[in-house]
Amino acid sequence: LTIVVLAGGISHERDVSLRSGRRVADELTDAGHRAILRDPGAGILDWIAETAPDVVWPALHGASGEDGALQALLRGRGISYVGSHPEAAGLAWSKPTAKALVARAGVATPAWLALPRETFTELGAGAVLGEVARTIGTPAVVKPSQGGSAQGVTIVDDAAQLPRAMVDAYTYSDVALIERKVEGTELAVTVIDTADGPRALPAVEIEPLSGVYSFEARYNAGETIFYAPARVSDAVAEAAAETAIAVHELLGLRHISRVDLIVAADGTPWFLEANMLPGLTETSLAPQAIEAAGLELSSVYSELARAAAIDSTS
Ligand code: DAL
Ligand code: MG
Repeated sequence: LTIVVLAGGISHERDVSLRSGRRVADELTDAGHRAILRDPGAGILDWIAETAPDVVWPALHGASGEDGALQALLRGRGISYVGSHPEAAGLAWSKPTAKALVARAGVATPAWLALPRETFTELGAGAVLGEVARTIGTPAVVKPSQGGSAQGVTIVDDAAQLPRAMVDAYTYSDVALIERKVEGTELAVTVIDTADGPRALPAVEIEPLSGVYSFEARYNAGETIFYAPARVSDAVAEAAAETAIAVHELLGLRHISRVDLIVAADGTPWFLEANMLPGLTETSLAPQAIEAAGLELSSVYSELARAAAIDSTS
């Protein structure tokens, strides 16, 4: 197969994307494919059409590749791509939308408020913060409603930290998501979904040394201890896997996703978010899950590319 791997792009996660893309292209080459790594810019669609690859692998984290816009353009040209379709991408990209959707299906997700910037400026910070304190309380997690790699995310232990946390979230998104912080074990479950339907890989447990899985803790080797597989009971591992597959299916995700959860002391997996283009860098979670399953990255990436090449784009 000839596979165009798109990485870089214009988003806050550009550097992460370049790291994921390089690694994916290397693994696909090892698997015997012709992988062409490309940083998209003007004319990219024409160039892809002329190159006529069997499949495009969008490794574009962040708004330029994870909101579904690129996938819609590829679909418009009849070009096959790895990963979710635009509609599902849009659902997963909006954290409040994903939470509302899975909550309606009975999946536990921490209580939240999604506040557009205008609410904050028009009602006044005081009124809004009072409402947040009343409905969510502390500790809370404040995040941009759209985004990745923990950029713009603050853990708020004291209501006095809220205004600053919200301003940080608005730096990345027009809507701030304020979520009750659930205490427990942080797990990431990667789902691989090719011809035989979705299967969950072993959960990876995340233990950041600083206590917070920040941007730095994600991408500097040694700043987080990962347990792959997670140090949880079989029952918890099974519940996490079931939740991840349920979320993957509810959102209509395809080929690969990573569902991030907190497992509370009573064993309940709480849904935080679903990632339709999970990071594939040296320190990312999905590659660790693949290796924990006893699989080779090159063979799994090859499986995804082959599935995408034959799957319909609609
Ligand atoms: N947004 C980053 C790349 C991740 O989910 O791994
Ligand atoms: Mg994410």
